[in-house]
Amino acid sequence: MYLLRKPILALSDSRAVREALVKAPVTRAVVDRFIPGSTAAEAIESVRKLRAQGLQVTLDYLGESVADQAGADDTVAAYLQLIHALSSAKLAEGAEVSVKLSAVGQGLPTGDLMALANARLIMRAAYAVGARLTLDMEDHSTVDSTLGVLRALRAEQPDVGVAIQAMLFRTAHDLDELVGPGSRVRLVKGAYNEPSDVAHQDSAEVDGSYVRAVRQLMAGDGYPMIGSHDPRLIAIAEHLAVESGRKPGDFEFQMLFGIRPDEQVRLAAAGHTVRVYLPYGNDWYGYFTRRLAERPANLLFFLRSMVSRG
Ligand code: FDA
Repeated sequence: MYLLRKPILALSDSRAVREALVKAPVTRAVVDRFIPGSTAAEAIESVRKLRAQGLQVTLDYLGESVADQAGADDTVAAYLQLIHALSSAKLAEGAEVSVKLSAVGQGLPTGDLMALANARLIMRAAYAVGARLTLDMEDHSTVDSTLGVLRALRAEQPDVGVAIQAMLFRTAHDLDELVGPGSRVRLVKGAYNEPSDVAHQDSAEVDGSYVRAVRQLMAGDGYPMIGSHDPRLIAIAEHLAVESGRKPGDFEFQMLFGIRPDEQVRLAAAGHTVRVYLPYGNDWYGYFTRRLAERPANLLFFLRSMVSRG
């Protein structure tokens, strides 16, 4: 099934496929499984429900690779509105926002500077109300730039988090710099269609790299955030945490909204901090197709719904 991942990701880049998917009447119903709403108010409602189940959140305003400064400004405005709404609802304390730097200008000609300035605005607003910021990681060509922005942000708020992708060959080296005291790192397998000269292509190799990275993070002085739904990797992370003398609260689990919700509640009931990645907004296409590619069963479900409705 892992073999289907690359072709699905490649196909999803096609404009024709995008138009067909976005227009299909059934799409919205399937999208709703992964994306609980399009507005900040709907996102806040989901936060309330997750909190009632003992779960923490990291909120993502959907969108990536903005085309111009106006697009980047819109993203910043949406995050500021969200943070204000979280604070008004008294839900900001302990919450996180997740930001894709390409949504705040990273890909534009003055990209690094613009992304840093915009991420800093979001960071300051979040920390002012008791929330935190984590930088998502996009494809491998953005990693150096994202880590550069992270360093600059951490000069002001040392616990700004970052996602690191086990599939990339460079990961062990990057983690050397990221295991210091208070460093929050979200370890994920990696969701992008990466070439074989920079990334593992085989799922067993990705898993092996993930385990080595968990070991490195647990042995370090930072705060590991285990971003995976994989039962085997979750069990290994729990085991390595105990072996490193960590207690629940010295690290956390993170999962995506709508994926293995029972496991999220089970881990929280066992005393772990569990944070749900909660995306909202209208620009859901990229996020949604990465979820289809991760699990072709989702694609089959989607295609079957189209056929039965058509
Ligand atoms: P894997 O895909 O092997 O799945 C293990 C099991 O989980 C499956 O057998 C199934 O039961 C369930 N499952 C997994 N995906 C599912 C799906 N889509 N639908 C239904 N069930 C599913 N990536 C990235 O490149 N940059 C980033 O910043 C982030 N950020 C991020 C945050 C958080 C909180 C999470 C959990 C993940 C990310 N990712 C990410 C995505 C990550 O790289 C990876 O693509 C997915 O988590 C899928 O990998 P798993 O580790 O879950 O294993």
